[in-house]
Formats: sequence, C-alpha cells, structure tokens
Amino acid sequence: MEKLHINLDEKSYDIFIERGIFEEVGKYISKFYKKKKIVVVTDTNVDSLYGDMLLKNLENSGYVPSKVVFDAGEENKNFDTLTKVYEKIIDSGIKRGDLLIAFGGGVVGDLAGFAASTIYRGMDFIQIPTTLLAQVDSSVGGKVAVDTTRGKNLVGSFYQPKMVIIDPELLKTLDEREVRSGMAEVIKYGAIYDNEFFNYLLEKEDLKSSMEDIEKIIKRCCEIKAKIVEVDELDLGLRMILNFGHTLGHAIEKYYDYTKYTHGEAISIGMYEITILGEKLGITKTGESKKIKEILKKYELPIEDKVNLGDLIEIMKSDKKNISGILNFIFLSEIGKVEVKKVAEEEIGNKLLK
Ligand code: GLY
Repeated sequence: MEKLHINLDEKSYDIFIERGIFEEVGKYISKFYKKKKIVVVTDTNVDSLYGDMLLKNLENSGYVPSKVVFDAGEENKNFDTLTKVYEKIIDSGIKRGDLLIAFGGGVVGDLAGFAASTIYRGMDFIQIPTTLLAQVDSSVGGKVAVDTTRGKNLVGSFYQPKMVIIDPELLKTLDEREVRSGMAEVIKYGAIYDNEFFNYLLEKEDLKSSMEDIEKIIKRCCEIKAKIVEVDELDLGLRMILNFGHTLGHAIEKYYDYTKYTHGEAISIGMYEITILGEKLGITKTGESKKIKEILKKYELPIEDKVNLGDLIEIMKSDKKNISGILNFIFLSEIGKVEVKKVAEEEIGNKLLK
C-alpha cells in the first residue's frame, strides 16, 4: 500500500493508493470519521458499476450510507445539477457534521466537492476517484467547481478533502481512450518536474506495461502534485506549472466545442505544440519536442491538429478566466524543468506567432 501525506497545516490529509482498497474503504474512513451517516455523491455511470458495492462496503463497516446520483457527463456539471444534489442531500437527513464521499471521475469530484464546500457552509468530504485523470490530478489539491454558461469551472473554491482513496482496480472498467487520456496528465508530471519519471514512462513498452505498474505511477504523480500544492495551494504561483499544455489544450477543446477530443487528448496536443513553439522562441532546449512526440505517440495520443494558432489565440483571449488580461504560458526549458511566461493579451499574437 502506498500512502502519501499532503501537508497543509490543519487542512492536511492522507492519500492511500492500493489495488483492492475500495473493498476496505470503511476501514480507512473509520480512522477519522466516528459518526454513522455518509452520503455518497456519484454519477449514473459509476453508480451502475460500483454504487451498490460501495454502499455495502460502508454498511459492513457499520455506517449508514445514502446515495445521490446525477446524470453522467460534463454537460451536467452545472447549477441545475448542483441544486438537485443539494436538495437530495438535505432530504436524506444528512447534517453538517456528517460525511460526503465524492465517488467518480473529474466531473463528480468537482461538483460533489463544490457541494461539500458550500452546503451547510461546508461539510467534510473524501474523494474516491475512479478515472486515471481524477486519480492523478483532480482528486488531489482541493480544486472544486461547476461550469457556467459563460465557461468551465468559473464558479468554485479551494476545499481540501479529508482523505483520498485511490484504487487502480477501478480503472479496469474504464474505456481505453479514457485511460490513454489520463496518461497525458501522467506524462505532464514527468515533463514539468521529473526527468527520471519521464524517461521511465518513455522506456515502457506500451500502455499495457505501464498499467502493470500503475500503482507506482499514480503514486509518483500524486507525490509531485502534493509537493506543488503544499507550496501554492491557492494557485497564485508554482501551481500554474500544472497547466503545461493546458492553455493551448483548453483552446483546442473549445474550438471543437468539446466534441472532437477528450481533455487529455487536447492537453497532449497542447504539450507538443507549446514545446515546438518553445524551441522556436529559444526558450526550450532543442530536441525536447522530439522526446515529447515520442512519448505521446507511445501512448497513442494525438500531437497535432489542423486548427491554426491564430484561431486558438482568439479563443485564449476570450477566456473568461483571463480576467487580468495576462495569460500564463508554461514552457519547458528542458524535460523536467519549466519556465512560465506571462504574456499580455494584446501581445499574444506578436509573442507567439513570430
Ligand atoms: N489541475 C490543476 C490543478 O489542480 O491545479
């Protein structure tokens, strides 16, 4: 069993990673939660596969669980769903001092976490992530949010869970495209922070052989994320480096109205394109884009798209999160090291298209 501690003073918590840990979830929760009532918030996909199992596991540990299920899909990460989730939590008799479990992928973690951070002015919650992307990224670090009609994740907060329980066995039911997409975020950690980890992933034969070591791989990603979040919980500086490939990636996702690529695939293209650009601008060591290409290809992730940079720049400029008019571009100086370039909105064209 792999255990990590994320040190945020009174908001500190543990991350447990182990194959099969899901079956013993009650034992881990009982380390800190002594009351009986628990509400599990999940989506229809996860519920149909694992909902009953989770409730049974909790009952076997003496808990009295209830379940709130909402329709799966990013399009449901909105205020309508949130209102229904609040109402169901209240109607099921859950009180402020009880526990909420966010059980699912990134959408569930974000929405259920945001519900936990706001209902009754905040109740304790834990994360049990079920996708690779959620296991290596979104379940750790306390970012919770919902989308609005004006953009994604525009309303949210930083609200740390009390514990994260990661069972790689749950990935067995995930479709391969989703696993490959999660690998894009895994590769990101190597690219921005750990050259050795990057080479380890590069030397793997294929996705299958990486999946054999997935426990170790998830642990390294969570370790890196924990280190970054411990330094910059509120995303005011260092945490930005987690957005390597994301500024371009988000624009690509948006250009295709979130239909052509998964988040991970768009980030994959974003990481390759920004590295090419970094080399062109003399920021990134020559040859690094070749390595990025090789590793992304190994995991059968896309690296290019025909959309032109000019169109993406227009989308980036209109990003509602870009309130200060400054965009942060995360370049690699070399694999394992980054350089953040702040570019004013009106300068983007000159700086990136030269
Ligand atoms: N997913 C990026 C972050 O947690 O900051």
